[in-house]
Amino acid sequence: MAFKPKTKIMYIGGARPNFIKIFPLMEEARKWERIKPILVHTGQHYDFEMSKIFFEELKIPKPDYNLGVGSGSHTIQTAKIMERLEPILLKEKPKLVIVVGDVNSTLAGALVAAKLHIPVAHIEAGLRSFDKRMPEEINRLLTDHISDYLFASESSAVQNLLKEGIERKKIFFVGNVMIDTLLKSKVLDAKRTPRRVASQKSKILEKLRLKKKEYGVLTLHRSENVDNRNVLKEILETIEEIQKKIKIIWPIHPRAKKQLKKFNLFDKTREMENLVLIKPLGYLEMLSLNIQAKFVLTDSGGIQEETTVLGIPCLTLRENTERPITVTEGTNLIVRTKKRRIILETSKILRGDSKKGRIPRYWDGKASQRILKILNRTIKYGRF
Ligand code: UD1
Repeated sequence: MAFKPKTKIMYIGGARPNFIKIFPLMEEARKWERIKPILVHTGQHYDFEMSKIFFEELKIPKPDYNLGVGSGSHTIQTAKIMERLEPILLKEKPKLVIVVGDVNSTLAGALVAAKLHIPVAHIEAGLRSFDKRMPEEINRLLTDHISDYLFASESSAVQNLLKEGIERKKIFFVGNVMIDTLLKSKVLDAKRTPRRVASQKSKILEKLRLKKKEYGVLTLHRSENVDNRNVLKEILETIEEIQKKIKIIWPIHPRAKKQLKKFNLFDKTREMENLVLIKPLGYLEMLSLNIQAKFVLTDSGGIQEETTVLGIPCLTLRENTERPITVTEGTNLIVRTKKRRIILETSKILRGDSKKGRIPRYWDGKASQRILKILNRTIKYGRF
């Protein structure tokens, strides 16, 4: 057996997408029986629909620690996580800390571990929007530069890291763990055929009284979109036009809801007959909704990737993407938040003229396997 008895590996997550990415890694690590996983939930997300439902659906073990940090400014959130995490790391002394994605919990976790000289593995390393106004870009840059193992989901990420002077030997192109979860959930097989002819799939349509391909999905939560009244207003005006042609389902993120109310824009959503606001959905329901949609309008990173694999047209309401492969190879188009362009592109899709993509390299459900193999080798040769 390659592992020494009880090699402690600590996973740190806090926001909704983190757990979707940690899930396949924990599953894979189970095969290595001498790994002792420790799961820390920072509590960055805390609503049932933003956190617990993912643990229930994906059967992720209950976190060993919950730091309960909740919401706050970036500084407060990051600092609270750091303060509460340090004593746990000192007590548990893990051999490796794994952080995923680009949220405040990612940076805070990496920083505390690095300061204690505990090796850090960053899953989804090297993605860059080249826009430092995005909080996520700061988190990505800093996390990568203090990590010891950088696992990249697409080849552009490898190039970014090399250009920033990170040593080649620390970088591993392994594929996309989010897609591992998607394929593991058996909503479809590798040929994109719906496999779980799923009660899930019909349930969500029934629940929302929808017909397959007769609706679009909207998701919105990025600070640059929801914290700026003018931008949010222009998006709403755009949706107002689109919903005249096709029903739009909007599982609304708590941050977006809060901002709509703050800017006195919430009532505007009620005036739109064909816009349906619903609570945030769980993982399987969201996937089932997206898989049967005509298109998805989003500012999420993960949804750009999932729609590429699902073969669903995706219009990204942002100036840029840190996941360029979803545009060069996938079904994604960057449409910014400008009304004319978004309406033009949705009309094209409604006419049947949508972008066809292919599945990027290593988005094959085996990224976690590759990561664990690399870590196993590293442990075997006593590098940590
Ligand atoms: C965070 C991440 C973002 C990620 C997203 C996934 C950062 C900087 N941002 O954004 O990169 O794409 O998670 O969803 O880490 N709130 C609730 N209940 C919750 C969580 C949040 O009501 O369970 C509300 C609070 O009003 C809070 C606001 O949402 O102030 C923002 O939450 P926060 O965790 O700061 O960032 P997200 O917008 O969720």
